[in-house]
Amino acid sequence: MMDRQLVILYGSQTGTAMDLAKRIRKQGKLRHFSTSLLAMNDFPIHRLASTPLVVFVCSVTGQGDEPDNMKTFWRALRRRDLPAVLDDVQFAVLGIGDSSYQNFNITAIRLDRRLRKLGARPFVKIGLADESHDHGIDFVADPWIAQLMDTLMEKFPLPPGQEFSLQDETIQPSFNVHFLSEKPVENKSWSEKQMPRKSGLYDADHPFQATLISNKRATAEDHFQNVRFMKFDLASSGMSYAPGDTVNVFPKNLPEAVYELLTFLELDGDQLISLSINDEDFSLPPHCRLSNPCTIREAATNYWDFQGVPRKSFFELLTQIAQDEREKERLTEFASAAGANDLFDYCFRPRRNALEILQDFSDTAKRISLPYFFDLFPPIQARAFSIASSARYHKDELHLLVAVVEYKTKLHRPRKGLCSNWLASLQPGRPVPLWVKKGTIKFEQTKDKPVVMVGPGTGVAPFRSFIYERVSLAIGNSILFFGCRNKAKDFYFEEEWKVLQGEGFLTVLPPAFSRDQEEKVYVQDSIRKAGAVVVKALVEDEGFFYLAGSANSMPKEVEAALKTVLCQHADMKEEEALEYIKQLVSEGRYQTETWS
Ligand SMILES: Cc1cc2nc3c(=O)[nH]c(=O)nc-3n(C[C@H](O)[C@H](O)[C@H](O)COP(=O)(O)OP(=O)(O)OC[C@H]3O[C@@H](n4cnc5c(N)ncnc54)[C@H](O)[C@@H]3O)c2cc1C
Ligand SMILES: Cc1cc2nc3c(=O)[nH]c(=O)nc-3n(C[C@H](O)[C@H](O)[C@H](O)COP(=O)(O)O)c2cc1C
Repeated sequence: MMDRQLVILYGSQTGTAMDLAKRIRKQGKLRHFSTSLLAMNDFPIHRLASTPLVVFVCSVTGQGDEPDNMKTFWRALRRRDLPAVLDDVQFAVLGIGDSSYQNFNITAIRLDRRLRKLGARPFVKIGLADESHDHGIDFVADPWIAQLMDTLMEKFPLPPGQEFSLQDETIQPSFNVHFLSEKPVENKSWSEKQMPRKSGLYDADHPFQATLISNKRATAEDHFQNVRFMKFDLASSGMSYAPGDTVNVFPKNLPEAVYELLTFLELDGDQLISLSINDEDFSLPPHCRLSNPCTIREAATNYWDFQGVPRKSFFELLTQIAQDEREKERLTEFASAAGANDLFDYCFRPRRNALEILQDFSDTAKRISLPYFFDLFPPIQARAFSIASSARYHKDELHLLVAVVEYKTKLHRPRKGLCSNWLASLQPGRPVPLWVKKGTIKFEQTKDKPVVMVGPGTGVAPFRSFIYERVSLAIGNSILFFGCRNKAKDFYFEEEWKVLQGEGFLTVLPPAFSRDQEEKVYVQDSIRKAGAVVVKALVEDEGFFYLAGSANSMPKEVEAALKTVLCQHADMKEEEALEYIKQLVSEGRYQTETWS
């Protein structure tokens, strides 16, 4: 009989696909498969041909891009000269995507296609989970994993005499936690230390501690939304960035949230602990994220994402720990496929966070031993923001325009975004761990051609960067469509635009103030009104079209408006206009950076 060896490889930007990969590993282990779990980049591609059973779980990021931790693997797999030698490989692919994005689950679809082309055989049909589905990714992922396990057991039954039981499931913690008696010598958290780094080379494991220069509200005090205009000092970093780039910021939990967690769990924040590996499939947190040893307060502040909405694995682990009959019954229901609706209503729809859930299951919460918190709470993830400044114009500064995330659900407390609220709370002088990442939008090709930019709300950020870059190079021909709610409340950079218009660098077409009159107007309406300008810039002068901001309906509405003006002012038929837009996209003359 073939070896019962199951390799599970994931590509995950913010941990969701990795979490599912872990769940698959657990199910495989229960069925006595010998499992290994790795990010795709950590798997040597030359071993693939001799790996009989591989499960891939991957998400999508950017505008249909692969997560960073599968990029190298994917590049190697796509090499044209790679021989089709995967005949001995059987595989299964589970994609995690969001159908509100244009390239729904594109990474998984491409991976599945490529593996087949190289001769590998799927043993379960590709699963495409959708985060936008009412019941979230589990609607597809749960039955897919169940089918995967059934198929595996059918194809690779247990040797005679061996049995498995789902009751056996005991999840071991990834790390051991050792209590140390000495207090830390240096009582400074990691975020105040600069990791030694060669000039300019920063990444998730080596962020730069940028000093905050200023943090001002960019919206009127009585406006419903708090948007911050933030300036950072990069003077000593050697860091450079280009228009269209983004920064990733590692946030922290605010002290009041940490206090609430530690008090509720009766944990001593000053207790010094050290971590060691308990499960070989996992590595210790990188030093820049959490020093080892650290205090429990540092773990709670810098590492544990206890204010995020938990994933299903959280409930699976709590089920194992629960002793109280009522709590165990409810948790078991939530962790089961049959309880998906209840879990959705209790947790996902109202966006209940991990701490609130622990407070609801207080008997279970009090039984959690310290090592398990490193499994229950995923590590805090970095958040992306478009750079709003030009390195050429603003020299050693980096600017961001950050909308502070706050919204209501049926829960009493408003929901608050972790990173934006943390950033909003910071006083000048504080260090912020960040690093630059290439954005999706590339402006390099534009030279002195006209550029049409559509940036409603904080979507204007990357265009401010590009406009100032052009100003530094003495290039005009920049046309901006901006939209917001009210002229007096959230018209970002109004004064700056006036100056640049006066100097002839910029044309700001009449902005769409959606709430300043009876009928709502948006950027797509402004585009329709200024159709002749847009068509001249694109068709006659062979210019570029850029769009940034909300991923909701705006990108589609803007595309529809562009199609309309092409028909009206360039005398195109509808199909011709669509074809023309496609051509713009393929030439890199129509680019978007959108986020939800
Ligand atoms: C490439 C890129 C560039 C970006 N540039 C900018 C920028 O320049 N400025 C900017 O402000 N943002 C920008 N964003 C968006 C920003 O990264 C997110 O808003 C980020 O989630 C904010 O982090 P947070 O920790 O405050 O919120 P989180 O804790 O991450 O919470 C945000 C999440 O809350 C949920 N949510 C938010 N509002 C609601 C609601 N009304 N109802 C239900 N659920 C909701 C959504 O799931 C959302 O993903 C960008 C994103 C990307 C990917
Ligand atoms: C910036 C960003 C871009 C995304 N782009 C896409 C996309 O193009 N297609 C898609 O299907 N899903 C897209 N998604 C949705 C992710 O695939 C989904 O959020 C997934 O759960 C993330 O999994 P991960 O945490 O493992 O990276 C995007 C999500 C983000 C935050």
